[in-house]
Amino acid sequence: MTFHIVSLPGDGIGPEIMAGTLEVLASLSQKFHFDYEVSEHLMGGRAIDETGSPLPETTLAACQQADAVLLAAIGGPQWQYPTNRPEHGLLQLRKSLELFANIRPTRVSEHTVNLSPLKAEIVAATDLVIVRELTSGIYFGTPSHWDENGAVDTLNYAKNEIERIVHEAFKLAQQRRKKLTSVDKENVLSSSKLWRQTVDRIATQYPDVTVEHLLVDACSMHLLKRPTDFDVIVTENLFGDILSDEASMLPGSLGLSPSASFSESGPALYEPIHGSAPDIAGQNKANPFGMLLSLAMCLRMSVHRDDMATWLENAVDHLIAHKITTPDLGGQSTTNEIFEVLQSHIKEA
Ligand code: IPM
Ligand code: MG
Repeated sequence: MTFHIVSLPGDGIGPEIMAGTLEVLASLSQKFHFDYEVSEHLMGGRAIDETGSPLPETTLAACQQADAVLLAAIGGPQWQYPTNRPEHGLLQLRKSLELFANIRPTRVSEHTVNLSPLKAEIVAATDLVIVRELTSGIYFGTPSHWDENGAVDTLNYAKNEIERIVHEAFKLAQQRRKKLTSVDKENVLSSSKLWRQTVDRIATQYPDVTVEHLLVDACSMHLLKRPTDFDVIVTENLFGDILSDEASMLPGSLGLSPSASFSESGPALYEPIHGSAPDIAGQNKANPFGMLLSLAMCLRMSVHRDDMATWLENAVDHLIAHKITTPDLGGQSTTNEIFEVLQSHIKEA
């Protein structure tokens, strides 16, 4: 059966990292006999320019019918309209596909340990996953409005929205090192009081998993002080956004981190956690590893082809080990050179 992928290259560096990644997928699929097809759709700023909407109806419909969606990056300084921004399209896509579970892994390998801004002895062998609630919380609460005199945002969590993400996190912890850190602001926020109570109640169903609660401010400190102690971190939408950027710097570059977002059923979305980097767009300087590793997550989690996913992850590790990287990871390669080296590895191996 043909696997249907929707590609959303988006803005800034998005199109260049997506194009090379899809070429890598084409070669890999020949090598591994994987039958798929890709259709590309408009999203983000370019979609606003061409259709007036950051998530045109045809794009949303294609995503709903896909087996998986790959997104590169959206946004840029030319699209700062208050009520119609590229980011609104991304939030609408997450909400429409009910992608409540966002999985953001961070790993520090022997090859990235010296790229970290932290001391090697602190970050070495860090291997953690942030499970971020993605379709509720302050990102989606109403009322939400502002004028020059004041502003309102609303932080809402329904009990079942907390329960379903917490179950996902416990299940993931069971497959890993069986430790779950739940992050909240229970000393201040009502939603966090419900969050913590829900985690404790659900914990009884997963007796093999050790649970730790941390306030978000303390967690942001512990991530720098003892990152190797973390296994799975579960948290609400805004805290997860902030902590995942912080965690992504442990191996030295935001450009390395992939992510996957899931609903109860239906297509998953795979995207690097970095943005569209408009300052380096079109200059052949963008780090493609976050995009390639997002494809690897797609191959493992939606296509169920561990062989292809592992091949790609090992290939990225190998390039980093041999300093075939963009300057943000200490190398001198261009985006295209990285793709070319990968292509030659696929053909020779
Ligand atoms: C992310 C991004 C998005 C978010 C933005 C682009 C809306 O920062 O995926 O982490 O805040 O969720
Ligand atoms: Mg973010």
